This record gives sequence, structure tokens and C-alpha cells, in this order.
Amino acid sequence: MEIYLKTERLTLRELTAEDLPLLTELHTDPEVMRYLESVMPTEDEVRVHLRNMIAYYALGQQTGYWAALDERGRFLGWFLLRPDKDEPRPGQLEVGYRLHRFAWGQGYGTEGTRALVDKAFAELGADEVFAGTMAANLGSRRVMEKSGLTFRRVGHGDWMRDLEGGDQGGVRYAIDRAAWSIGRNG
Ligand SMILES: CC(C)(COP(=O)(O)OP(=O)(O)OC[C@H]1O[C@@H](n2cnc3c(N)ncnc32)[C@H](O)[C@@H]1OP(=O)(O)O)[C@@H](O)C(=O)NCCC(=O)NCCS
Repeated sequence: MEIYLKTERLTLRELTAEDLPLLTELHTDPEVMRYLESVMPTEDEVRVHLRNMIAYYALGQQTGYWAALDERGRFLGWFLLRPDKDEPRPGQLEVGYRLHRFAWGQGYGTEGTRALVDKAFAELGADEVFAGTMAANLGSRRVMEKSGLTFRRVGHGDWMRDLEGGDQGGVRYAIDRAAWSIGRNG
């Protein structure tokens, strides 16, 4: 098991093909997917998703998706840290997360995101870390804020049209290296 990083309570490790049942359970929970998909994926679709997630490791850039485990080794969900899928830019990384309902409200989202932001700047040489979500996804926005990212802009996308709050559009948050250094050093 290849470990990517550890925080006080979390272990982020590489995903493997054996994680398919865990991932399928997560990706087919309508509450988890509330601001992500209106139609739940099939197991075959999750399998393709998982394959794409795993493919990042072969690039050897220390970016991609990681399973998040708690102190008892329980699968809580995953985090991502990788270049933008559509418009990758040098020095820019996106952070993201998807956790099981049972794990919500205990600070895990913030704990994992902060660690990834730190890793992006301290070890991976990033100049900027950004995150995006639907405007209506208040929990996700709060994780961004608590991880030091600040609001940048509103956007719209066809993908959110059928989702609750889709009419409010999407939001983007970001933090640059200078702001991260100030936050880190007080
Ligand atoms: C978004 C998500 C990762 C939050 O994870 P979490 O571990 O519950 O977040 P934390 O416990 O670190 O909470 C961070 C803050 O958000 C707040 N928060 C969490 N869920 C919230 C919600 N639904 N509405 C409003 N605030 C919320 C918490 O109260 C906390 O703020 P506070 O410390 O000021 O009280 C989790 O809800 C999730 O995985 N959701 C489903 C997938 C998803 O939407 N991913 C993001 C897609 S872009």
C-alpha cells in the first residue's frame, strides 16, 4: 500500500482496483452525489472512473487521487490533488474531496485539504491551488475557506443544470504561494 501522506487522523494512500466496491458505494450515495451527479453511475462507470484515477500514479508527478482512511483503517472517501482536467496550467493544482456521509462534520474534509495544500506548495512547487464547486454546496465552500482558499469567481456549466441549486452556478476558490506563506508563518 503506497502511502501519499499522513495527517493527525488521516492516511491518504494510493487507490487500487480492489477499491471498486468501496468507491461504488461512495459514488452511488445520492446524498454524497447531491452536488455532483443527478443520475448515479453504474458499477462499470465507477470502474472506468477508478481506472482513470489510478492512471495518474504512472505519470510519477505525485498528483492524482487518494483513498482517505481513518485511524482504524476505515475508508472515508477520497481526496484529489492534480492539474485541472480541462485546462492544465504549469504550477497550478486543483484540490478536491468526496467523503462518506458518516465521516461528515468531523473536520476530515478540512484536515485532508489543508495537508494537500501544504504539500502542493511545500513539496510539489505549486504557485496556486484552486478548488471549484456548486455555489449551493456550502459544506464544500466552507472546507475551501477553512483551508485558506478565498473566493475568486462564479461560473456556470451545463453539468449542474439538473442538480439542486444548479441555477446558482458554480464557484471557484484559490490560494497562491504568497498567501500560503503568510498564512503558514502568521
Ligand atoms: C464537502 C465535504 C467534503 C465536507 O467534509 P467534512 O469533513 O464534513 O467537512 P469539515 O468537517 O471539515 O467541515 C468544514 C466546515 O464546513 C461546514 N459544513 C460541513 N458541511 C456543511 C453543510 N452541509 N452546510 C454548511 N456547512 C457545512 C462545517 O460546519 C465546518 O465549518 P465550521 O468549522 O465553521 O463549523 C463532505 O460533505 C462531502 O464529501 N460531501 C459530498 C461530496 C462533495 O460535495 N464534495 C465536494 C464536491 S466539489
